[in-house]
Amino acid sequence: MKIAIYYFSGCGNTELMALKAQKKMQSIGHDVLLFQNIERPFPEEIPQTDVDFFMMPVYFFGLPANVVHYITHMPIVAGRKAIFIAVDGGWSGTARRYASFLLRGRGYEVIHTAQIIMPDTFLPLKKSQIDEKARKELLNQADEQLQKTLDVLNHLPPLKKENIFLFIIAAIVYFPLLYWIRHTMGFCFVSKSTCIHCGRCAQNCPKGVIQMKEGRPHWSVGCVGCFRCVQFCPVSAIDLSWYGLGMGILGGILGWAFFGAFFVYLGPFMAGLMKWVGLFLGFYVGAFIYQKISLHLPTDKALVMSHRKRIVLSDEEKRLS
Ligand SMILES: Cc1cc2nc3c(=O)[nH]c(=O)nc-3n(C[C@H](O)[C@H](O)[C@H](O)COP(=O)(O)O)c2cc1C
Ligand code: SF4
Ligand code: SF4
Repeated sequence: MKIAIYYFSGCGNTELMALKAQKKMQSIGHDVLLFQNIERPFPEEIPQTDVDFFMMPVYFFGLPANVVHYITHMPIVAGRKAIFIAVDGGWSGTARRYASFLLRGRGYEVIHTAQIIMPDTFLPLKKSQIDEKARKELLNQADEQLQKTLDVLNHLPPLKKENIFLFIIAAIVYFPLLYWIRHTMGFCFVSKSTCIHCGRCAQNCPKGVIQMKEGRPHWSVGCVGCFRCVQFCPVSAIDLSWYGLGMGILGGILGWAFFGAFFVYLGPFMAGLMKWVGLFLGFYVGAFIYQKISLHLPTDKALVMSHRKRIVLSDEEKRLS
């Protein structure tokens, strides 16, 4: 069979699974092409294949914004088969359904969707700090999940129905978060004084939202929250700032209160709606102001949220995979 694997990976989990999938399928005689998607447009002509795999991480119960952009901008393929694999930390939320919906929109017949659980890469969560033993266990389980998914090529099970109630809840959380992350997350990053000015963070950002100014990285709007910049920093000099988040939250509260009071004449429904606008806008302004101030501060340990070295995959592990 001729197979293509399209994937995006922030911290390396999905990349590892995609590389393993390629190796496993090649070992049984399939011809497998691998495409890493880092905000590159699809080629005009996508290769003719028997089945295309889409392996993507889950961010905030859904697809990363750049993955949505990628799929919605690919050429229409009529009647091609697709298998979607969510590589996540345990809860896919809307991701599988949403991906199937988007892929169908491009003409794909989605023949199977699956989930592979990997270590959680969401930096602010304690859960992302697992020890070596737990990490190895998860990777072994992920291998089994991958094998099961690849076995479907031989005997296709019927598509499993997902819980519609959970899907709706996840969608309610996902879409505002997606918007919020894109507009504010970048402002909450800081580079510490240990930065060696190498520019790897800027080179590896899938959205190109990091610019090097006077040797230091500066984040702007458009971040998808993948933590690739953190992962690729050779000296672990990037972290999230409590101050950035704090200023954002303060701005959000002020925005909520101010908009709620100001638009009260519009009636309860519109005033309620405007409060949410105020919250998002306030967060944006708060985090933005913080970022401008932080450019003039020595970014030492006091400014950051954690000092964890969060390497999901070692370089050696990547080479071995
Ligand atoms: C911003 C962000 C949000 C995340 N949200 C979820 C989530 O909603 N559900 C989940 O199961 N895992 C979540 N994760 C964990 C990732 O899906 C998981 O660690 C994945 O394997 C990361 O793949 P990658 O290293 O290829 O980017 C999140 C990770 C990040 C960075
Ligand atoms: S700034 Fe960092 S977290 Fe945001 S999109 Fe770029 S690499 Fe990913
Ligand atoms: S990758 Fe790390 S060391 Fe290099 S410029 Fe970015 S923050 Fe500084």
